[in-house]
Amino acid sequence: MLSKGVVSLLTACLALVAGSTLGAATAGTHRRHLRLPRAGAVNQFPDGFMLGAATASYQIEGGWDADGKGENIWDRMFHEHPEYGTNGDNGDVACDSYHKYAEDVQALKNLNANVYRFSISWARILPNGDTDVINQAGLDYYNSLIDLLLENGIQPLVTMYHWDLPQSLQYIGGWPNPILADYFVEYARVLFENFGDRVKFWITFNEPAAVVSGYASVGRAAPSLPAPGIGDYLAAHTIIKAHARVYHLYQEQYKASQQGYVGITLNSAWNEPATNSTEDIEAAERARQFEVGIYAHPIFSEEGDYPPVMRQRVDANSAAEGRPRSRLPSFTSEEVAYIRGTSDFFGVNHYSSVLSTSGETGTIPSKEHDAGVISYSFDSYPQAASSWLQVIPWGFRKLLNWIAAEYPEYPIIVTENGYSDWGELDDKNRTDYYTSYLAEMLKAINTDGNNVIGYTAWSLLDNLEWTDGFAIKFGLYQVDFNDPERPRTAKDSVQTMAQIYASKELPIEYFE
Ligand code: NOJ
Repeated sequence: MLSKGVVSLLTACLALVAGSTLGAATAGTHRRHLRLPRAGAVNQFPDGFMLGAATASYQIEGGWDADGKGENIWDRMFHEHPEYGTNGDNGDVACDSYHKYAEDVQALKNLNANVYRFSISWARILPNGDTDVINQAGLDYYNSLIDLLLENGIQPLVTMYHWDLPQSLQYIGGWPNPILADYFVEYARVLFENFGDRVKFWITFNEPAAVVSGYASVGRAAPSLPAPGIGDYLAAHTIIKAHARVYHLYQEQYKASQQGYVGITLNSAWNEPATNSTEDIEAAERARQFEVGIYAHPIFSEEGDYPPVMRQRVDANSAAEGRPRSRLPSFTSEEVAYIRGTSDFFGVNHYSSVLSTSGETGTIPSKEHDAGVISYSFDSYPQAASSWLQVIPWGFRKLLNWIAAEYPEYPIIVTENGYSDWGELDDKNRTDYYTSYLAEMLKAINTDGNNVIGYTAWSLLDNLEWTDGFAIKFGLYQVDFNDPERPRTAKDSVQTMAQIYASKELPIEYFE
């Protein structure tokens, strides 16, 4: 455990991030305290801006059954279906960060990062998903990591759920079962109790849209169940309620003593209308509402509840299919009020942009069919290794402006942004990606006046890119997956990023 001195040093740093008003925070107004001062120049980051890198437990830790860890749905899916992973890759060992976390902290240090976003493996802490067994080795692991980060001046930004559900909770249906919210609340309580003295930024869920896709198709995401347009909506409904309950838990029982912040991370491409037609403009907006609005509207909008366009289309399609109820569940008016406003910041993962037009797509039923939007790649932008990733920096600025306009007042943390290639150490394309995307983000902050307060690059390390395996690389640091020691080597991009992170500015030519 950290000494009191180190913790208060950290709290002092955090007060800077929080605009020095942490102590005055009260429910409903506290997020306004996460406002950073204006930067000194267009190419500079505001004082207190968090700059760092991100990872996730299943993608880096390995130690899949080490020291009492329970099985999760990704362990199960890849063990039962190695063919779902490219080259049969899985997260059994991955970067072995379970043993080599000190090297990860050193890598962050060399990057001049002041924040590290990582996730906690639920089954490493609670092997059965419930508090009947609390795995001390799991607590020890994250305590050591958190302490080492703080000793190095690096703020932990912790994701509670980055897709790795304990298998025992999938046996009772996983996220479509509303009881999962109860389990998630108890898991969160264990995290607040054990780590909340030192962790001040919490993300409940990473990319719920990706989580629920595991209930809509086979072979793409665990638990790999094909109930499109039904299971995914039920899962989303539980996740939104679970998030809100954890937010309230923190406000009621931990905020006063721990003085931290709780938010959620949503993912979004920028949907650019394919033409200037009203139809395409509406289609692009509909795509955003079905991807982001489904979670953001209940939590961040003034009115709360699902976006009206979703309610209307899913209800109409469900009726047309001859169903006695809508496939999209409903919140009671008490629930709408309870969920609204339950986030201190808006976490966003953004990588790329697509063109969108109106049209019939997807199976009946499915979210894609309900949305009625066809999205496709641009012709003329550079392609990364991931099929879905083109380098379109201006889309980032547009997305940040859209979020800020749609959900005003919420500080934004960019919790992921990055570029994939096939593993070059001289990764000039990655450097170009980061610098051009960071420049667009700074324009969104300094020119457009949006309150973005942090940025964590995806990813610190090459890691398991889920079903794409280890071949596709997002890391600033290379990991040699053929060597049992899993050595880390800085790629060229580290030099540029370390320089930006230290100087807190970008070259002025991006703004001329
Ligand atoms: C989003 C996910 O949160 C992360 O796990 C994944 O590796 C990156 N995007 C890149 O696809």
